[in-house]
Parts: sequence; C-alpha cells; structure tokens
Amino acid sequence: MSKIKGCIFDLDGVIVDTAKYHYLAWKRLANELGFEFTEEQNERLKGVSRMKSLDILLEIGKLNFSDEEKLQLAEKKNNWYIEYISNMNSNEILPGAKEFLQIVRNNGIKTSLGSVSKNSMTILNNLDLAKYFDAIIDGNKVTHAKPNPEVFVLGAREIGVPEQSCVVFEDAVSGIEAAINAGMYSIGIGSKKVLNKANIVIDSLADMKIEMLELL
Ligand code: BG6
Ligand code: MG
Repeated sequence: MSKIKGCIFDLDGVIVDTAKYHYLAWKRLANELGFEFTEEQNERLKGVSRMKSLDILLEIGKLNFSDEEKLQLAEKKNNWYIEYISNMNSNEILPGAKEFLQIVRNNGIKTSLGSVSKNSMTILNNLDLAKYFDAIIDGNKVTHAKPNPEVFVLGAREIGVPEQSCVVFEDAVSGIEAAINAGMYSIGIGSKKVLNKANIVIDSLADMKIEMLELL
C-alpha cells in the first residue's frame, strides 16, 4: 500500500503547455511599456497570482503605477492571454499528463487541481480535462498565491487526504515552496537546477511511474 493517497497537480506548465502563453503576454506588456523581459526573469512569475506577477514585472521595469492603472494593465495582459489560449487544442496537453492522471485514479489515489489561475476552468473545459480531478482548486477559490500553501491545503481537504499523504506536481519554484509549506511531498516538472527543493525532479509526466511514489 502506498503512503501517498492524494496527488495534487498544478495546471500551467504541468498539465497544459500554457506557461509559454503567460510569458508571451507578460513580455508583450513589458515591451509595450518599453523594457525587455527574459524567460529567466519569468521564472519569478510562475505560480504567482496575476496582480503579484504584475508587481514583479513592474519592479523589473522599474516603473510605478497607481492601483487603478495596475488593474488596467493586468486586464490587458489577461485579455491577450485569453486570446492565446482560445486557440488551444489537445496538442497542448503536456506529454504523459492525461495518462498519468488516469493511472493515479486507477490506483485508488485521489486527484486535485491546485492552481492559482483564475482561467483554470476555461482551460479544463476546453480540453475536457475536468473529469480527471476529484477536486478543483483554482484562483477563484484562494486568496493567497504560492508559496503560500493555501491552494494545496484546500485541495487536500477537499479530497479528504491528510497533508503528509499528498504529493504535489509543480513546475514553479514558488509551487515547490508552497508544497513544502503545506507539509507535502513534491515532484518538480522541469529543471533540476531550478526546482532543487523538490523531492524528485522529472522532465515531464511522461517520465512518471506510479512506483516512483514509493521513493518519496
Ligand atoms: C499560475 C501561473 O498558474 O497562474 C502564473 O503559473 C499566473 O504565471 C497565475 O500568473 C495566475 O493566472 P491567471 O490566469 O489568473 O492570470
Ligand atoms: Mg505552473
């Protein structure tokens, strides 16, 4: 019997290839405001809420705006992002994601989404992915972005699994920190160098085997 009873998945960059669209939209905003924004700088925005992301972006660009103006800038970015994701198709489901979700469920392990994106439901519905999750926690249900553990703690509560029996799958540094703050195991999807606090790091869910949960 596995000690892992719940798997909590981030969405952007773990299940679907949308992290690139967030980056493109932020970069477009930065360029329009007159500064460059690199992929390396973008690591700081992953897993971070929309408004917090904007604050980091403006800090990089050394620009100040009023709260009112910031809301408008965030809305502009989000409209571009929605435009990008409206053309998404199943090719943008990341390798191995659906297959691993199915295997997890077949093994009697509960699944939850744990994303701070307010656009999560749109993506899950467009790609018919909602059916793979026993619980869905998104940006509309939480008040604190990662690395605050709220999104994962709520996920564990909704699937009825104690924190210490959950593992989080994450592509963001802030997400791995949130998992640690929640008292959960974590599996990083991406670079070992960037996600060095995770228990295990893999390139994609295509490399994930259910037996690996025993290694945690
Ligand atoms: C996270 C992304 O999943 O959602 C962040 O990693 C993004 O890059 C955040 O800023 C909020 O998303 P949204 O769709 O609510 O703007
Ligand atoms: Mg992510």
